[in-house]
Amino acid sequence: MRRTTPRWYHPRHDPLFARARVSHYSLLRLLADGECHSGEGLGGRLGAPLAAVLERVRALNALGLRVQELPGQSFRLAHPIDLLDREALGRLLQGNSTAFTVEIMDECPSTNGALMERARNGAPHASVLACEHQTQGRGRLGKPWHSGIGTDLTFSLLWRFQQGAGALSGLSLAVGVAMARALARFGRADVQLKWPNDLMLRGRKLGGILVEVAGDHLGPSAMVIGVGLNVRWSAARAAAVDQPATALSEQGDSVPSRTALLAAALAELGAALGEFARGGFAVFRAEWLERHAWQGRRVTLRIAEREIAEGEAVGVGEDGALLLRSARGVQPFHSGELRLVEP
Ligand code: BTN
Repeated sequence: MRRTTPRWYHPRHDPLFARARVSHYSLLRLLADGECHSGEGLGGRLGAPLAAVLERVRALNALGLRVQELPGQSFRLAHPIDLLDREALGRLLQGNSTAFTVEIMDECPSTNGALMERARNGAPHASVLACEHQTQGRGRLGKPWHSGIGTDLTFSLLWRFQQGAGALSGLSLAVGVAMARALARFGRADVQLKWPNDLMLRGRKLGGILVEVAGDHLGPSAMVIGVGLNVRWSAARAAAVDQPATALSEQGDSVPSRTALLAAALAELGAALGEFARGGFAVFRAEWLERHAWQGRRVTLRIAEREIAEGEAVGVGEDGALLLRSARGVQPFHSGELRLVEP
């Protein structure tokens, strides 16, 4: 007999599927400390037989996390892992002037994609979606964004503005300033910005920002602000990116927890987006220029791999447009991707 799947079926609604999805992350949480745990003890805490623990160990190994099996059917992660801590995040955000509604997912194709959908379905202002493992992260200009489990920070924030999206030029640059302020809280005062919104550390890309419009271009707008930050680096991750990139762990002795980074980012973003709603990018311009990674450098500007201009990057305008000086004088550009002529 042919089995038919009801039209409303989605694996998310299937309790078996949900249990299977959630369970290896539940195991990961128990193993996160890098200590040795008996299979029996793990099974007891998960409410699952040893066979199910073994199955979930295999699932974690398939994700590239190294769970070692030790004599006596004990298990430990080869390296402790820094998972997001909901309670600690709640404590760190207490007293903040923005009332964030935060959800932390184990796995998600793209936090921007998921939050865009929620925004269209009426999710409240200042909704935040973070995830441990983003499987199909979106970068600017249709590029993929790669991130590791427990090693990077991937989150999105929904911000509703009274203005239409057309009146919010420079928003993504202001977000870059807010993220640099957040990292300065941990002593990383040297984070720079590359137009339009890359976070740079010592000449390499540390993070990226993707701002998408979920609402109207004219009326009040809903903006989904996605941030990806490389926190801990591995050779495998380095090989997956197509430009010089870095992570906080590569450039400093101590790395803040992902939870602390998320809390600082949200606090700075909340404050900055309030400032932006009142004064636009003009309020942030001087600070952006102080952090401009490629000020005075010779660059090319490309759109869809086609070079459309070459000149000296002399800064940004009050609307966030890149200002390029060439034989034609100083011209503003509103989109594209920059490359250094001489690295
Ligand atoms: C860039 O290309 O530099 C922008 C990268 C933005 C990545 C973040 S990670 C969280 C959010 N969800 C996504 O799918 N993309 C953004």
